[in-house]
Amino acid sequence: MEEKTVVRNYFNETGFDRWRRIYGDEAVNRIQYSIRVGHQRTIDRVLEWLGDVQGRTICDAGCGMGSLSIPLAQRGAIVYGTDISEKMVSEARRRAQKSLPKDTTLKFDVVELELVNGQYEVVVCLDVLIHYPLPQVEKMLAHLSSLSTKSLILTYAPKTVLFALLKRIGQFFPGANKTTRAYQHRSVDIEAILERLGWKIARRAAIDDKFYFARLVMAER
Ligand SMILES: C[S@@+](CC[C@H](N)C(=O)[O-])C[C@H]1O[C@@H](n2cnc3c(N)ncnc32)[C@H](O)[C@@H]1O
Repeated sequence: MEEKTVVRNYFNETGFDRWRRIYGDEAVNRIQYSIRVGHQRTIDRVLEWLGDVQGRTICDAGCGMGSLSIPLAQRGAIVYGTDISEKMVSEARRRAQKSLPKDTTLKFDVVELELVNGQYEVVVCLDVLIHYPLPQVEKMLAHLSSLSTKSLILTYAPKTVLFALLKRIGQFFPGANKTTRAYQHRSVDIEAILERLGWKIARRAAIDDKFYFARLVMAER
């Protein structure tokens, strides 16, 4: 089965409940709690890097439940959140309705990353590339790159010993063999792709908690 189909099914089925709890505020186990904390630090860092977003156009590709899209819209950005999973998008819409006024500048659609259209000042893709091997990441970044006029912000899971161990525990990845569905990437490989696509790395951050490992990169034209 194609990687994308496996990921879509996962986020429409077993993965949906797991990630709804992680990205929510109810009690969770310590692994999920660590992922929640780490992920929130990533969101906070992106909001800090972007600063004043009033009136800026931002595409949140693989937006999940709107953890970034919603605060961006609250700060006045014009946000287009897209995701491959219908269930994730309907939860994002539900959360947005609860916390944003009706005439909001936020729109969510079910669209896979490589079929998103339009031009945005900023394109963001958080905690999505972990689901894909490098050749597919390269194609995805080429498409995201074509959508952005100024900045591209993304995370990937770094190749570290701790993370490899976690992957073997297989706590939160899809598939019958859970260990096959998380891909770690080397910073040199991701940065080389971005450079080939004409980007310069403007900022980098390592965001690690006990069970959450992300490398956050902001690239500019
Ligand atoms: C771990 S969640 C992260 C969600 C969100 N970016 C965040 O940080 O809160 C990964 C999300 O990527 C989405 N996704 C995975 N592959 C995708 C693809 N090819 N196109 C669009 N969305 C995708 C999943 O459905 C899921 O909602």
